[in-house]
Amino acid sequence: MLSIVAACAMAADRERAEFLRGEIARHDDLYFRRGEPAISDAAYDALKREYAAMIAKLPELTDAGSLESIGDDRTGLFPSRRHGRPMLSLKKAYTEGDVRAFEASVVRRLGEESPAYVIEPKYDGVAINLVYEKGELVHALTRGNGIEGDDVTSTIVALTGVPTTLPARGDERIPQRVELRGEAFVMFEQFQRSNRDREEAGEPPHAHPRALAAGTVRLIDANERGRRELSLVVHGWGAWEPTATRPRSHPEFLRVLHGWGLPGTDASEAVPGGDALWDRILEVGARRATWAFPTDGVVVKVDATLTRDQLGEGTTAPSWALAVKFPSEQVMTRIVGITWQVGRSGVLTPVAELEPVSISGVTVARATLHSPAHLLRMGVRVGDTVEVERAGEVIPRILGVRMDKRASDATPMVIPRSCPSCATMLVEMNDGATLRCDHPACPARRLRRLEHFVSPAAVDIPGFGPALLEALIAAGVMRTPADLYRLTHDDLVRAGAGGGARRLLESVEASRGRELWRFIHGLGIQRIGAATARALADELDDLAALLGEPSVRENNAAAPINISAWAALDRHFSDPDNRAEVEALVAVGINPSRTKQGAISTGLLNGHTVVFTGKLAGLARDEAVGRVRAAGGKVSSAVSAKTTLVVAGEAAGAKLDEARRLGVRVVGEGEFRKILAGEIEN
Ligand code: IVH
Repeated sequence: MLSIVAACAMAADRERAEFLRGEIARHDDLYFRRGEPAISDAAYDALKREYAAMIAKLPELTDAGSLESIGDDRTGLFPSRRHGRPMLSLKKAYTEGDVRAFEASVVRRLGEESPAYVIEPKYDGVAINLVYEKGELVHALTRGNGIEGDDVTSTIVALTGVPTTLPARGDERIPQRVELRGEAFVMFEQFQRSNRDREEAGEPPHAHPRALAAGTVRLIDANERGRRELSLVVHGWGAWEPTATRPRSHPEFLRVLHGWGLPGTDASEAVPGGDALWDRILEVGARRATWAFPTDGVVVKVDATLTRDQLGEGTTAPSWALAVKFPSEQVMTRIVGITWQVGRSGVLTPVAELEPVSISGVTVARATLHSPAHLLRMGVRVGDTVEVERAGEVIPRILGVRMDKRASDATPMVIPRSCPSCATMLVEMNDGATLRCDHPACPARRLRRLEHFVSPAAVDIPGFGPALLEALIAAGVMRTPADLYRLTHDDLVRAGAGGGARRLLESVEASRGRELWRFIHGLGIQRIGAATARALADELDDLAALLGEPSVRENNAAAPINISAWAALDRHFSDPDNRAEVEALVAVGINPSRTKQGAISTGLLNGHTVVFTGKLAGLARDEAVGRVRAAGGKVSSAVSAKTTLVVAGEAAGAKLDEARRLGVRVVGEGEFRKILAGEIEN
């Protein structure tokens, strides 16, 4: 018989367990589906540990599920497909003790000495399973519940440039079926650029690169794709048939991936097992600040495939790998001021000036507050104590105000009414959520636009820092990008460039040869990011064509340039100043080369211009376009003398007649697939 006290304690335990289960499910949803975790990984793991302890005490709750589950990222918006082999999670470690326990268990299971390991970054994005059958990409799936995931093939193909056909080069035999496991993620630079663009458009920012990756992978709106960028890395495999053709070690795996044109985790490092393991983990971890991609730890894996087989896997994680997580550091500091920055489209962004603090080894003194709306929502005041972290351990982010520490004299924020740079009255947009300076000659706007133009992401003209550009603007010799190409040695010397003037002029000259997309991107047209600029460059003959008649660019079903991008161009160029900016570039002789986008290419369609007509039976149009691009080809919407290949599907119409008239080669869908597979001549 249970005593009343014991029964009450058990009821309380049951209640607590129920609560924990609910919390775990809620955080799974926030993390996996929305990509916006509300608590740290360590706090999440603590919930799971407490829940595990409860279950151990209350065996009747073992059907509870949550503990054994590895979450579920399916949205119900995509077809669900089964993985060949389950996509597992990783065991997690936080301390030296955890790592030692892992090593000891490996040695115990093997019954021999420590094996060799590899350590590599734990990329922080969305887990992806690429399924290739006979060398053809058949699906790209999210992890889902580990057993089946969302089919996101067309987005992955369009945005990451993964090869849709594995080239059978050298001795890299193509498996019957292989599942390549990897991570789709957003580089820090793109994350920041995307948030800046969102700031300018008055949209809420993404809190973390993972959140942006999660949203991008599941983009339904093809119109939005042109603005997004996604990277991909492959770090392992699931099924590999026939088994005998599996790589024997991690370096061999990387070589195979390389041969197939797929990006592997080449930041990986071989390490011997034993006592040195923890030190090496710390060493690799210390390099983290230099990585341009988000990570939340490192992964330690046994190197040899056969040793992995020996160790096997549990229901949720393999026994041969361990994720060592880095705790995310959150610190308190004070807001000493709030400044307002003017962006290139004139949008004002509030920036918190902080009492400098060190977060994971880097001094942080500023953090963006994104928009007046965000600032008001947070309710920050100058003098407030705030919690700060580095999103993805890189980008400073204010988590919230410590109201318990608010000083009685903390000053409420005053939203400015005039531009801090040119004193023009500001315009309110989005119901006051966004403030903008509309003065085209505003020096701050000019500076931002020029900064963007010369940045490595755009035309890439090294040496032109903000101070020099500001001096040139102040001297009246620099208003628009074309002025860069008119600068004289004297101009530069007077602006303080001194002995560097000659090098700067050379750097400007060298930039004339950059690809067309860089100039298009450099113009800083709203909603036209690097990816859309690349797609536009594929469609347009030269810079001047940007100003062409809108009607010339209609009927672009095949191009990944969507209506909203064309609309953005029209809006931008309805302003005569913006037209003059492009005309001036053309007038100073800028005639950039049109080059294919920089994705990994199989090269099978290099130099080809492909036109699609009719309906393809087994391939969505944007997927077909993605494949042509991935093979190095260009896609055009209309048949012309430049067209080299027409792919005709069902009910092909006028374009087919035109192709026949011009004598352009026409192929069906089956033949098109063979060309992509390198099976017949292109
Ligand atoms: S190996 C059987 N290596 O972390 C699982 N995973 O928390 C073997 N991840 O689902 C995974 N970077 O999506 C591995 N270098 C890396 C990784 C990595 C990120 C992800 C992966 C996995 C999750 C587990």
